[in-house]
Amino acid sequence: MRAMARIAAPGGEPVPLELEDRQSRTNRLPRKPPHVIAIYPGSFDPITNGHLDLIQRGSRMFDRLIVSILRNDTKEPLFSVEERTEMLDEVLHVYPNVEVDSFDGLLVDHAAAHSATVLLRGIRAISDYEYELQMALMNRRLSPRIETVFMMAHETYSFISSRLVKEVFSLGGNITGLVPPSVESRLHARLSTTKMKGA
Ligand SMILES: Nc1ncnc2c1ncn2[C@@H]1O[C@H](COP(=O)(O)OP(=O)(O)O)[C@@H](O)[C@H]1O
Ligand SMILES: [Mg+2]
Repeated sequence: MRAMARIAAPGGEPVPLELEDRQSRTNRLPRKPPHVIAIYPGSFDPITNGHLDLIQRGSRMFDRLIVSILRNDTKEPLFSVEERTEMLDEVLHVYPNVEVDSFDGLLVDHAAAHSATVLLRGIRAISDYEYELQMALMNRRLSPRIETVFMMAHETYSFISSRLVKEVFSLGGNITGLVPPSVESRLHARLSTTKMKGA
């Protein structure tokens, strides 16, 4: 049986709260827009096949999907925002409804500037969950009209992170199949010029 919170109306039958809540919430939140625009934010330093899988699946759920690189130098990225933009463009130009952008400042402001109503994030393991939940709740507090949607990582890619790919690659390990071939070439080129850093 479904649980339902009830209060006693003055001198009468208890009023089901659930219905009231649902109606007032429906009135407060905007209806579904005709075109749903989603932002997939992240570092993408570099894009992996795990990110790519999420983007492919997301592109089938939303009318437009904007993959947005966070401009955050405190993470000491291996690739500049410009290089990461190029790498994303190389891989994503085949998806007509996927675009690449970058942002700094509040993610909800970036989403609002694009009229996006969805933030897409991926969950690989329980270890991702705590941080992602915190971010989603903070973003909801900042902007209740924007909903965070989580997609579970594909089992084939759930162990992949940009950090681990860089680490394994810098130690001479084989990363074929973990990142798109164009990204692998970029890593080869970068390794020959600089010492690899973590992120
Ligand atoms: N292999 C993967 N499969 C599915 N989702 C992933 C994978 N790797 C990262 N993600 C998700 O993609 C998003 C962006 O990740 P990342 O590029 O590391 O940026 P951030 O710095 O925001 O963590 C996060 O929600 C992360 O959980
Ligand atoms: Mg990460």
